[in-house]
Amino acid sequence: MTIPTEISVSYDLTNSIFDAIAGRYDRTNTLISLGFDRLWQRKLVQEVQKVSHNRILDLACGTGQLTRKLGELEGAMVTGLDPSVNMLSVAKRGIEGKANIDYCEGYAESLPFPDNSFEVITISYGIRNFADREASFRQALRVLRPGGYIFVLEFSLKGGSGAQFAFQRFYIHNLLPLLGWLSTGEKRSYRYLRDSVESFPSPGDICHQMAGIGFINVEHVRLVPGVAVLFTGQKENDDRF
Ligand SMILES: C[S@@+](CC[C@H](N)C(=O)[O-])C[C@H]1O[C@@H](n2cnc3c(N)ncnc32)[C@H](O)[C@@H]1O
Repeated sequence: MTIPTEISVSYDLTNSIFDAIAGRYDRTNTLISLGFDRLWQRKLVQEVQKVSHNRILDLACGTGQLTRKLGELEGAMVTGLDPSVNMLSVAKRGIEGKANIDYCEGYAESLPFPDNSFEVITISYGIRNFADREASFRQALRVLRPGGYIFVLEFSLKGGSGAQFAFQRFYIHNLLPLLGWLSTGEKRSYRYLRDSVESFPSPGDICHQMAGIGFINVEHVRLVPGVAVLFTGQKENDDRF
């Protein structure tokens, strides 16, 4: 596996957090999101379906829940990448007999693929965990084919206002770590989840960062009930390719 820089505290930390909860990750996700996680992923898949998607890279694929859904799209060859050995081992169990899905171990900050390899890149609930978001976006832009799309699903509380967001803030701060702990027995992982969601930048800041790196047509939409955001960006078409 390629490690982006020397192994830093933050790479070790996220790996150990996800390794610890891999076996119960999917079930707990559905519980703590009250089932919305699947609806949000379905919306992402619908958007992917609208564009050319023969070669898809699912970054931070975890246990492969989204990877498998992408693999159901007609003509799609999907690669899932994640650094957590335990998350990947759960993912690999779910693809027996599916020749159009493969998995590899790696970091978003240092992708082991040639330039212009994929028509679509997806990142679902992954980007807030990346140690170096800027480097990851640069790598994603590098391996996307000209004209290709990136779809990023992530939680963002910043920039949201009103009673609806006050409740979601309360839920994420107080109830989410409790439910995660009860479901997995892992206190640290779900405190980490709470802290990483609370500190994630506003959608506007993420769009600004993506555009600054070179993505075009950058947009975002908040998905009901508001805490989940779907970001879209495109790599410029280049006649040289
Ligand atoms: C919350 S899980 C999301 C998993 C999956 N995409 C989903 O939708 O359920 C976050 C994943 O990000 C992965 N991750 C953390 N740091 C990463 C990095 N630097 N590069 C790629 N993946 C990373 C973790 O191992 C974990 O599997």
